[in-house]
Amino acid sequence: MKKVGFIFDLDGVIVDTAGYHYLAWKKLADRLGIPFDEEANERFKGVSRKRCLEILLELGGIQVSQEQFDAWLVEKNEDYLLYINEMDASEILPDVPKVLNYLKDHQIPMALGSASKNARSILEKVQLLPYFEAVVDGNQVSKAKPDPEVFLIAARELGVAPEDCVVFEDAVAGIEAANRAGMTSVGIGDADILGDASYTFTDFTKIDLEFIKDLT
Ligand code: BG6
Ligand code: MG
Repeated sequence: MKKVGFIFDLDGVIVDTAGYHYLAWKKLADRLGIPFDEEANERFKGVSRKRCLEILLELGGIQVSQEQFDAWLVEKNEDYLLYINEMDASEILPDVPKVLNYLKDHQIPMALGSASKNARSILEKVQLLPYFEAVVDGNQVSKAKPDPEVFLIAARELGVAPEDCVVFEDAVAGIEAANRAGMTSVGIGDADILGDASYTFTDFTKIDLEFIKDLT
């Protein structure tokens, strides 16, 4: 039997932290007088913290010194961490454990592939860290999604060929990264937004274990 690996994005796939990222960016945007709403927030999904701030300042037509830029990055993350510090296993998205437990029971290796520098501490908070053989996050990658780097490192750490990996992603940039890595991509969210994915489901409650079995 060929060796298959499953790679999961974190924010918006395993836990609903996308909402917390939004609230923290919205607070900064409001303070700076930059119009920012849920639609603009779509562009923030899957991309690094630094790139998010660049986009926000582009939206506001603001140019700042490197020092100010770095200070706002810290400010946003401190606000975000106020939400993260309160997280526990109740914030795992519905039916995610169903899929993770199936893969664990069948000894199929799993990795996390996230742009977040907070990924490991979030996995600890929601008690899912032991499921993952590899955790590749924003601290290890130099090229952000849609570059395939994060998923290629994850595949290498699992010891699985990229074409035998399956990626679960909620972001347009993440689906593009998975496709560019030559992996099977499963979009979690709106099929109209994630149209380039090999498969899409609105959430994990719509994923049958037969579907997972067929991918292995
Ligand atoms: C991604 C999120 O998972 O992580 C992005 O989808 C976020 O919205 C990025 O900007 C970086 O996260 P963090 O926790 O390092 O600020
Ligand atoms: Mg995501």
